[in-house]
Amino acid sequence: MQQTFKLRKFTPDDLQSVMQINRVCLPENYMDFFFMDLHQRFPETFIVAEENGKIVGYIMCRIEVGLASFGLGGLVRKGHVVSIAVLPQGRRKGVAQALMTAAMEGMNYYKAKLCYLEVRVTNDPGVSLYKKLEFEVSRTLNGYYSDGEDAYVMTKKL
Ligand code: ACO
Ligand code: ZN
Repeated sequence: MQQTFKLRKFTPDDLQSVMQINRVCLPENYMDFFFMDLHQRFPETFIVAEENGKIVGYIMCRIEVGLASFGLGGLVRKGHVVSIAVLPQGRRKGVAQALMTAAMEGMNYYKAKLCYLEVRVTNDPGVSLYKKLEFEVSRTLNGYYSDGEDAYVMTKKL
């Protein structure tokens, strides 16, 4: 099937669209300065998908330093997917997969050695997406979300 969307870096003009998609798609919402801070610090991993000139999805990430897994040893840089969402009408066209792949390229640029994220244990679309991209569940965080739901931490070596 022909791809009907294109990816590009987030720019400050996209802020309201991205915040709107975040509110429509996820219960975890953030203030405008939170989005802008991630864009300013990690522009290579804040990406939007456009279809017919409208933003239909985004991914935003943070680079952190932490203890390695996968036997990498010592402290390593990790790419943390803070939030990804695609509007309902734009789903199942590969948008999220493309956003994840592009963000992981950005993480490579920042010299991150692995990528991780938290996802609700009942989020079947999310968990399926990450499994398709060869992420593995590394642990469960009990009561991670504000409504008490557990999170899986899912990780992939870059
Ligand atoms: N059911 C089962 N598998 C799914 C589903 C689904 N509803 N959606 C995606 N997948 C899996 C499939 O393996 C799919 O490949 P396939 O279509 O060839 O079978 C693969 O993921 C890639 O799907 P995409 O089309 O790239 O995913 P999409 O663009 O539809 O976006 C997303 C997936 C982001 C999870 C979307 O459903 C969404 O925005 N959901 C609400 C917000 C959300 O849950 N975000 C993730 C929270 S965790 C976090 O942000 C770190
Ligand atoms: Zn997180």
